[in-house]
Amino acid sequence: MVNPVLIAPSILSADFARLGEEARAMTEAGADWLHLDIMDGHFVPNITFGPTVVKALRPWSTLPFDTHLMIGPADPYIPAFAEAGADRISFHPEAGPHPHRTVQLIRSLGKAPGVVLSPGTPIAMVEELLGDVDLVLVMTVNPGFGGQSFIESQLDKIARLRALIDKSGRDVRLEIDGGVTSETAPRVIAAGADTLVAGTAAFRGGPGAYAGNIAAIRGKR
Ligand code: DX5
Ligand code: ZN
Repeated sequence: MVNPVLIAPSILSADFARLGEEARAMTEAGADWLHLDIMDGHFVPNITFGPTVVKALRPWSTLPFDTHLMIGPADPYIPAFAEAGADRISFHPEAGPHPHRTVQLIRSLGKAPGVVLSPGTPIAMVEELLGDVDLVLVMTVNPGFGGQSFIESQLDKIARLRALIDKSGRDVRLEIDGGVTSETAPRVIAAGADTLVAGTAAFRGGPGAYAGNIAAIRGKR
């Protein structure tokens, strides 16, 4: 059973000089979650922002904060993100050293844990965690930057993960991140995705365009 599709705009593509207003505009435009990309310049070759900015953003949106940690190690910073207002916290298992401990830590803080698979990371990295996480995030670009092209080979991975999640019988969301557009969205949904991150496609055209952008990604034009 595939859940209703949720759209999670990534504020990586927002105007960083006006992040609060951008978060509010995207909330009013009908987004389901706000996706926050946290990069450390070490695990990925780019730097974004940390818990201070997450905390500053919190009053600007009522939506769940879908926090994507591209930092290594992640564990020492997870309590600060939880405290700042993150609702869902996802991490890359390669950030190490003990992915299951990271899941336990996120759960102990009352937050929803997710595991992220980069394009070159096999499904095996999440199999032993599937009974404990609330979300699996499949990256359809390599982590680090918005505006990259969708990597086709991940469609098969999405389909295989959908089958594994269905077999588990657990309520685990299958989220896709990278190169999601109104053209690629129907294809990842057909493969079994139920939650779509969109940076460039969600924020293009400025606040007046956000509702239309979200509708186009949902497939309602
Ligand atoms: C990339 C980030 C993505 C990024 C997606 O490392 O995890 O969330 O914002 O951007 P688009 O939708 O432009 O590919
Ligand atoms: Zn992301």
